[in-house]
Amino acid sequence: MQIHTTIASLRAALSGAGRIAFAPTMGNLHAGHVSLMQTARQAADTVVSSIFVNRIQFGPNEDFDCYPRTFQADCAQLEAVGVDHLFAPDEAELYPSPQQYFVLPSPAHDGILEGKIRPGHFQGVATVVTKLFNIVQPQVALFGKKDYQQLMVIRNMVRELNLPIEIIGCEIVRAPDGLALSSRNGYLDAAQRAEAPRLQATLQEVARALATGRRDYSVIEQNAMQQLAAHGWHPDYIAIRNRHDLQAPQGNAALVILAAARLGDTRLIDNLEAG
Ligand code: PAF
Repeated sequence: MQIHTTIASLRAALSGAGRIAFAPTMGNLHAGHVSLMQTARQAADTVVSSIFVNRIQFGPNEDFDCYPRTFQADCAQLEAVGVDHLFAPDEAELYPSPQQYFVLPSPAHDGILEGKIRPGHFQGVATVVTKLFNIVQPQVALFGKKDYQQLMVIRNMVRELNLPIEIIGCEIVRAPDGLALSSRNGYLDAAQRAEAPRLQATLQEVARALATGRRDYSVIEQNAMQQLAAHGWHPDYIAIRNRHDLQAPQGNAALVILAAARLGDTRLIDNLEAG
């Protein structure tokens, strides 16, 4: 695997690289990331990944400074799964001066759920992903479904900005007890780690309620949040939404149940596509 810290070096290496699949990351890789790389390997001649902890997608009181940085271990995993090129720029390379041009997702997609609770987050994601797309110029890009709203924002951005990139959403990878793998799971202490699978179990209960034909969505959501709260969680939301636009359910649109909740100081998100 070649490691590039400059845009010029990556671009030179990618000229004539054939079909490129790109999986951007913020590092601290786990089996969820590895599955993105494996799918990328099937999809193209050349696989590119990136590691960049993107300051502009973190809020002022979020975990940018303590976000886990595990570069050597990450490189070993990327190498083992057959990634050809890793782009690992520093901030001065990607943001040589303070960014003044941003990609602004639609308020319909940004003003709800994660975007409402983390103002500016999706603007930061959309901006860095656009910059990375322009640098790598992939034909295919891969993102995990754990960040369901991020995937929806990126799909819509690519469509509306006419970027010639196929977006592939990859399934969530879970620990044997159901907890969705996440770089932030490392913040949990032993007791919190034992409690954490309740988030997914709660989503499954909501899915079972929907499967019985119930359509009293806000009652189901409130009950699920109360259950989490009774076990020491601080839920931001449990929301039953249309899969395609994350708006309130309409007609027979396929549904997804999304959750965000804090356990101690750690904020976890998860989701489940229902029925
Ligand atoms: O999902 C992530 O790890 C990040 O949001 C991404 C897409 C790499 C942009 O910084």
